[in-house]
Amino acid sequence: MTKVFGTPHEQVVFCHDEASGLKAIIAIYSTALGPALGGTRFYPYGSEDEALDDVLNLSKGMAYKNALADLDLGGGKAVIIGDPATDKSEALLRAYGRFVQSLRGRYFTACDVGTFSEDMDVIARECAYVTGRTVAHGGAGDSSILTAYGVFQGMRAAAERVWGSPTLRGRRVGVEGVGKVGHRLVEHLREDGADVVITDVDAAAVARVRARHPEVDVVDGHAALIASDIDVYSPCALGAALDDETVAVLGAKVVCGGANNQLAHPGIEKQLDDRGVLYAPDYVVNSGGVIQVADEIEGFDFDRAKQKASGIFETTRRIFAIAADEGVPPAVAADRLAERRMSEIGRLRGILLNP
Ligand SMILES: NC(=O)c1ccc[n+]([C@@H]2O[C@H](COP(=O)([O-])OP(=O)(O)OC[C@H]3O[C@@H](n4cnc5c(N)ncnc54)[C@H](O)[C@@H]3O)[C@@H](O)[C@H]2O)c1
Repeated sequence: MTKVFGTPHEQVVFCHDEASGLKAIIAIYSTALGPALGGTRFYPYGSEDEALDDVLNLSKGMAYKNALADLDLGGGKAVIIGDPATDKSEALLRAYGRFVQSLRGRYFTACDVGTFSEDMDVIARECAYVTGRTVAHGGAGDSSILTAYGVFQGMRAAAERVWGSPTLRGRRVGVEGVGKVGHRLVEHLREDGADVVITDVDAAAVARVRARHPEVDVVDGHAALIASDIDVYSPCALGAALDDETVAVLGAKVVCGGANNQLAHPGIEKQLDDRGVLYAPDYVVNSGGVIQVADEIEGFDFDRAKQKASGIFETTRRIFAIAADEGVPPAVAADRLAERRMSEIGRLRGILLNP
């Protein structure tokens, strides 16, 4: 456990309720910009250490994502150790809710892998600091709507940088993974006049897109997609889509997609840069989802949230400009900009207000 004190995280809370089987860890990376917001992952981790590693990484990622999404929120994340298919129960979720409540608003939770809006409704029976609830309970509903919209805004900014105009019209975009985010992205792309080619391991997901858009091409798998003649590669499935092999053969000039953690290891951002591929940092362009759920804190208003997600265009553009000015890859520029905001705005808490 010494690894907690070797990191910049503010607070790490272990939550245990033996009777319901709850084993959870909540990590708060930073509250410099406000209460920490991040989802709860329910996953059968092989060990406590594995769960701790994951929650420490994920909570840091949320701090950076929320900072660049222009939210007044810090970064946090939680993991529940267990198999959501067999271990999830009302008692376990409510026990978890009481632990989140005990932090008195330092951490707001939301959905993540293995948790759904209905689970957030259950957690909210014990806790006031819950987002991602069902529409019936005043929640924002499916966050992939604004995630896809934000990815499209980021892609427009990349198109402007590379081809001079913020549109994908006439470009060929390869979308890998046409699940909740990917299929919505295809809608935006077709509306904008892009040619689209897709791949997905799930035949039903491919069929759903083809039913609406018979003109969309389909290829079989990752290797076929990146080797095809595409202008933009859009990873919208799992993480680590950009590994050494992919970067070596990628013909696309732009990478911009919804998947989290697209870079397989540190240094890939430099390889992409060296090959003249413009990479739109994943956590910047996929922040539409967190913008959507964060809006619940004020009482959800879809138009207001969409307006805020439109800002992803300008933020992505700004990151490309900083990257060019400072001679660094966009991923490095994004991290610097996030750190600057956390430091400049976080510092203002030092101005004493009248008690
Ligand atoms: N949903 C959101 O609001 C949101 C927000 C931010 C980031 N993300 C990230 O975006 C990505 C997609 O999320 P989603 O909500 O659309 O998930 P999803 O499960 O609905 O869709 C993922 C799709 O990818 C396909 N897939 C899985 N492995 C594949 C592979 N090897 N090759 C091709 N296709 C494959 C699946 O069959 C599925 O259709 C994830 O990385 C997620 O973490 C999602």
